[in-house]
Amino acid sequence: MLIGEALKMVRETLYPKYGDFAVPQSEEILLFFLKCSRSDLYLNSTKQINPELIPELKQILKRMLNNEPLGYILGTVFFYSREFEINSDVLIPRPDTETLVEEILSNEKMDRCRFVDAGIGSGIIACVLKESRPQWEAYGIDISYNALKVASKNCSNQVSLACCDLFSSFKPCRFFDFIVSNPPYISENEFFLLDQSVRNHEPYHALYGGEDGLDFYRRLAVESKGILRNNGRIYCEIGFNQKKPVKEIFTECGWSNIIIKDDLGRNPRVIRAVLKDNK
Ligand SMILES: C[S@@+](CC[C@H](N)C(=O)[O-])C[C@H]1O[C@@H](n2cnc3c(N)ncnc32)[C@H](O)[C@@H]1O
Repeated sequence: MLIGEALKMVRETLYPKYGDFAVPQSEEILLFFLKCSRSDLYLNSTKQINPELIPELKQILKRMLNNEPLGYILGTVFFYSREFEINSDVLIPRPDTETLVEEILSNEKMDRCRFVDAGIGSGIIACVLKESRPQWEAYGIDISYNALKVASKNCSNQVSLACCDLFSSFKPCRFFDFIVSNPPYISENEFFLLDQSVRNHEPYHALYGGEDGLDFYRRLAVESKGILRNNGRIYCEIGFNQKKPVKEIFTECGWSNIIIKDDLGRNPRVIRAVLKDNK
């Protein structure tokens, strides 16, 4: 089979299920297989594919038609133009989370500071921050030991990791300048509306945020006070419909300068708040 024919075959197989997403997905699969650049894929469309690869290609398509996310099948995803290893122990990084990273990089101007990524998962947020600001001191926690194994591969030894329930393994310390978190925020009702590929394959504890989806914001608004410095900041990703309740939670817990930032799709996506007078 020629490369161009394989691309067409993959696209046509995926189209009935994935519609227009079949185009980028078919490219991603072939790029992974052939270990080539996007331009090479089209420039070499009349070259033969090694026939030994075809059964593997068909196996990938079978898994995709069975709702398995492509990221888990290939074992890698791109986030902020950087490749990360993933597996089914971690949430698949979403482009929306780039808004959270951007918000921090444009607000935190200190040369030196310490931050913790609460619910680090695959490590995408802490890794990108640490790579953009190598002098920052980075910590990451997660309740899932298996997720931390993935974070540790992606972050090598750039981020100090701990397995704990939020900040339970930190002594009250006023140690951090800011906290970042993309917590689980799917409500009970929303959980049952999720696409099967998400509901059946991504980790439940990375998605489910309690009956109304807000459990983690309630905890973060209170428990962050034990580890943040005076005037410390928190940055959290939020669901598109959570702007009002999350703002209320942080206001009621005494946080100030609360700002909500939209993502590129103009949905509310990030909350930033400051903890004044944390004495
Ligand atoms: C939505 S995922 C975010 C993962 C990653 N930061 C990202 O943005 O792709 C939430 C993460 O929080 C972790 N988590 C859930 N409950 C937790 C808890 N009580 N304490 C610490 N981490 C928790 C999950 O294991 C999961 O890795």
